[in-house]
This record gives sequence, structure tokens and C-alpha cells, in this order.
Amino acid sequence: MGSHRRWMLWTWCVWFSAQENAALRVTMSESNLEVVRGDFVVMPCSFFTSSPLSRLNVIWTLAPFSSPETPIQVIVYDHGQVIEDPSLIGRVGFTGIPWSADIVLNDTRVSDAGIYRCMVNNPPETADPGIGELLLSVLAPPSLPACQWDGDAESGGSVTLSCAVAEGVPTPEIHWDKLSPEEISLPINMKGDLSGSVQIVNVSSQTSGLYRCSATNLLGTENCYVNLSIYSTPDRSSGMLQAVLLTLSMSLVLLALLVLLLWLRRTGPNRKWREGKEEEEECYNEIRYTASLMKRSFV
Ligand SMILES: *[C@@H]1O[C@H](CO)[C@@H](O)[C@H](O)[C@H]1NC(C)=O
Ligand SMILES: *[C@@H]1O[C@H](CO)[C@@H](O)[C@H](O)[C@H]1NC(C)=O
Ligand SMILES: *[C@@H]1O[C@H](CO)[C@@H](O)[C@H](O)[C@H]1NC(C)=O
Repeated sequence: MGSHRRWMLWTWCVWFSAQENAALRVTMSESNLEVVRGDFVVMPCSFFTSSPLSRLNVIWTLAPFSSPETPIQVIVYDHGQVIEDPSLIGRVGFTGIPWSADIVLNDTRVSDAGIYRCMVNNPPETADPGIGELLLSVLAPPSLPACQWDGDAESGGSVTLSCAVAEGVPTPEIHWDKLSPEEISLPINMKGDLSGSVQIVNVSSQTSGLYRCSATNLLGTENCYVNLSIYSTPDRSSGMLQAVLLTLSMSLVLLALLVLLLWLRRTGPNRKWREGKEEEEECYNEIRYTASLMKRSFV
């Protein structure tokens, strides 16, 4: 009796673990994939099931790096039918459905990068776990950077060279170099990830020359150039011009004073002066009068 019970328990355990083993299981052989923009990529998703595949259901979703909060359904297999996302029609397809859930993505774009999830269901079997995940990076060479200079190209002034690159995965590194007359590497300030600038203070004629900005990542390098020419105002001649101008204006003022003096003498300035004094005294009276009025009203 005891042995019979033990046998029952053992059978039940075997049956239960067999059921557990029979649960559908998804495995991803890759968790990180890299592809160069324009190339195709196969995203593997395999599953093990012991039930017939007549009710197999596979859904691939993508949470793009550019907009992770709005995932899309990349491709769906349901009741023997395949449905692609309208934005991916002609670029995405299953490679071995229903035996595997692998997909191929052709002509990849930078916007395809993100987290892909493969979900498999095969009722009535339970799924454990019925979901796999992989991260796709789409690499792109740097785009042509834009070079620009700003500031005062007169000697003694300061000039800023800036360089910005619009695209590139991984993020391109930016360098500024002076190519001629002598070749030097310049220390740059990064403004965010995709642009870098160099400030040159107290520029002189030696600052003139050809400068290059290069944007580099593992897929390549793109350059842009700035041809800087510093001009100098000849100091001595400008000083002389200033002196001449100063002398000229001073002599004009002297001349005007002389003319005024002569004119005052001819029209008799003494009489006018006295009249002015009388007017002033009248004004004082008026002020005194009002002051006393105000005093009274305050008392
Ligand atoms: C992807 O490209 C390959 C080769 O160019 C082609 O055979 C395949 O049909 C394409 N797949 C899809 C889904 O467009
Ligand atoms: C600017 O450079 C010149 C020589 O290149 C130097 O004589 C002068 O002192 C510098 N001025 C400043 C403010 O650094
Ligand atoms: C840079 O400019 C100077 C003078 O403006 C000119 O002589 C020189 O050829 C230019 N260099 C390049 C590479 O454009």
C-alpha cells in the first residue's frame, strides 16, 4: 500500500515536470546586434514547443531609440498570415516561419535602431517565457560637418572656429587642426556631442592659414575647412591721421573763439551785462516774496 502511494507520487511528479518541460520557451541567440546602415540584418528568435503549430502566433515589436514611448508592431504571424507594419512593408520578413520566428530587415536605416521584442504563443501551451529581447544598433558614418568662423579677424581681435556634424553612429569625434603654414592640433571645446569650437584670442598675422575640422567615427572621417586671413591696420599711419585730425579740429575751435570775441567787442557787451543783472535782481525779489507767503501759510 505504502509503496503504491509512493509510486503514484513519483508518477505525478514525472507528469508534472514533463508538463513544465513542455511549456513553450523562447530563446534569443543574440542580445545585441550591430548593422551598418543600408545592410540587412537577421534577428534570430527561436522557440521550442511540443504542440502542433496550427495556432502559432508571433509578434515582433520595436521600441525605437528615437521614440521609446511609441513602440510599433514590426511584423505579426497569426493563423498562417503575415502582417507587416506599413512603414516596413517590403523591408521586413520572416525567414523560417513557422519553424522559427527569425526575421530579416533589409536596407536598414538609423531610425530602425532600438529594442526588438519577439513574443511567441502556441495555445494551448503555456509560454515560459514566451518573450525574447534584443538591442539593434544601426551604425552610420559621420555626415559632412559644417565649418564656420566668427569674430574679429583684425590683429589683436579674437576668432572662434566652430564645427557641427549632423549625423553619425557612434557619435563622431571632432578635431580642429591648422594645416598651413605650420601644422598644429588645436584644443577644442565641445558643445554637446555633435559640435566643437576653438577660440583663438589676440590673433596676429601668424594666425592666418588653412584650418580643418574632421568628424571621425569607426566608419569613416569627413572634413570641412576654413581659410582664415587676419588683416592688420597699419598703426603708424592711423596715428598720424588721428594727430592731423586733432590739430585740424583744435584750430577750428580757436578760430571760432576769435570770431566770437571780435563780435562781442563790436556790439558793446557792457550794457547788455548790466541789463542782465537787473533782470536777475527782479527774479530774486519774486522768489523772496513767494517764500514769505509760504511761511505765512505754514504758520
Ligand atoms: C531582403 O533582401 C534579400 C536580398 O536582397 C531578398 O532576397 C529578400 O526577399 C528581402 N526581404 C524582404 C523582406 O524584403
Ligand atoms: C598680443 O600679441 C602680441 C604679439 O603677438 C603681444 O605683444 C601682446 O602683448 C599680446 N596682447 C595681449 C593682450 O596678450
Ligand atoms: C586662402 O586664402 C588666401 C588669401 O585669401 C589664398 O592665397 C589661399 O590660396 C587660400 N587657400 C586655400 C586653400 O583656399
